[in-house]
Amino acid sequence: MSIAAVTTPAEDQPLADHPAGRRRTFAIISHPDAGKTTLTEKLLLFGGAIHAAGAVKARGEARRARSDWMKIEQQRGISVTTSVMTFEYGGAVFNLLDTPGHEDFSEDTYRTLTAVDSAIMVIDAAKGIEARTRKLFEICRLRDVPIVTFINKMDRESKDPFALLDEIASTLALDVTPMTWPAGSGQEFRGCYDLVRDRMLLFSAQDREKVGAVVECDGIDDPRLASALPEAQHAKLKEDVELVRIGYPEFDLASYREGHLTPVFFGSAYNNFGVREVLEALATYAPPPRPQPAEPRPIVPTEPKVSGFVFKVQANMDPNHRDRVAFMRLSSGRFQRGMKLKQVGTGKTITISSPILFFAREREIVDEAWPGDIIGVPNHGTLRVGDTLTEGEELRITGIPSFAPEILRRVRLEDPMKSKQLRRALEDLAEEGVTQVFRRTLGGDWIVGVVGSLQLDVLLTRVETEYQVKIGLEQAPFETARWISADSKAELDAFMAAQRVAMAEDRDGAPVYLARNAWELNTIRERFPAIRFAETRERH
Ligand code: G4P
Repeated sequence: MSIAAVTTPAEDQPLADHPAGRRRTFAIISHPDAGKTTLTEKLLLFGGAIHAAGAVKARGEARRARSDWMKIEQQRGISVTTSVMTFEYGGAVFNLLDTPGHEDFSEDTYRTLTAVDSAIMVIDAAKGIEARTRKLFEICRLRDVPIVTFINKMDRESKDPFALLDEIASTLALDVTPMTWPAGSGQEFRGCYDLVRDRMLLFSAQDREKVGAVVECDGIDDPRLASALPEAQHAKLKEDVELVRIGYPEFDLASYREGHLTPVFFGSAYNNFGVREVLEALATYAPPPRPQPAEPRPIVPTEPKVSGFVFKVQANMDPNHRDRVAFMRLSSGRFQRGMKLKQVGTGKTITISSPILFFAREREIVDEAWPGDIIGVPNHGTLRVGDTLTEGEELRITGIPSFAPEILRRVRLEDPMKSKQLRRALEDLAEEGVTQVFRRTLGGDWIVGVVGSLQLDVLLTRVETEYQVKIGLEQAPFETARWISADSKAELDAFMAAQRVAMAEDRDGAPVYLARNAWELNTIRERFPAIRFAETRERH
């Protein structure tokens, strides 16, 4: 099979001559240390977005130096925030959404993955599938996000490639199709045989910025290959390639697009080896923007009118100006700077005069953007996660839920004079998705809820450094929260009156039942069959 043999699938045809058809909006999923940052950096090198390796980290540090609240990232050596990077290569426009790399599952990560069309899964060749990769993969699977796999660090001693493929197939229940095949690993790593184009990509650890030499060959038996490799390795590679051709299914575009099959590439991000092949695979196979699920109808990218949705809000990127940036993914139309869009729900009109595209070098103001692109919209708190923006039509995108928190804490305010600031801080951070905030019906205590414990540290640090409010977080008498609803308002009111002690409101005023433990929740469920207890709540 050759790349040329891949014809445009029918679902892409409507986008053939549309700028949206060139967009590839994706994320990289991996376990910490597998090489996500390094791969990102090399991808950006191909895109010409940066000119020296190390720039991603350097830029990260420069940003941290500017903003205090990222202190926590430094202390823990993790990236808590999500950034967006746009670059072009081979006629395609890539929008890379960076997912937070820490161990805790967070809503932020989930929401970021709702804004991508595909993902690259990076696996450390010595470690195989690790916990966080698996978790992120499961999130991708919820939406059948197609995945390209990159097995990294082949320049180190690694697991047997057949064993790695079997591990991916069995632990993730995914079909695998190797697209390249390694000759050796560690000190013996000589490169990869390109199974798609029948040629050898030679590995050199000499110049890390350059892409290695390519020995074009007419199949695995070509004598040119024999002269390029030590004899024993050549024999082993021949044998492996024969086994691979028999043992694994051919690449099937439809199956990949449906999230059932992953094409697998081997390489070394650090040495910029195998990275171009991954990028080309994204350009060739990965889906352009697809219709966006919405109510009352899906939004098709080629629609002339602009629409998009906010999947993330980040406050205080610059602590000197209480600015806030809403990250909006465009779903349709040609966005132009200065456009007026309606925030569906409130009906407010928002003029987007200084949209930001997140090029790797710095933020740049852009004049136009297309479906699949992410734009940053500076605002003063009007825009919220889950918001749909349109040119007027009442459309609401679906699929960005709030999750029931797994950890609840009561907020203790050290200085009672600062209750106003506290409210503001909690509401801001709730809006960003750092934490969820509930106000108890009785007594008005603030209860914060998070999905992972790291979010509590982020909350404490940020409330103190950004809002100058000292707080403590105490064990709450509750363990879990559920959004409640019922067909009959009278029944819901009766339930809320009877359970006043356990009632709270979220920041949109939606009623929430706080349970002391799972047992209590079950008992209450049985006693009140007319009440629905939801673990997630769709915004609005
Ligand atoms: P992450 O974002 O997934 O957490 O991983 P990151 O790229 O930061 O890589 C983790 C470590 O693995 C880094 O080493 C990086 O240099 C190394 N690495 C990445 N790709 C390769 C590869 O292909 N081969 C080898 N041998 N190493 C690789 P570090 O010592 O933690 O950091 P640094 O001092 O190199 O920056």
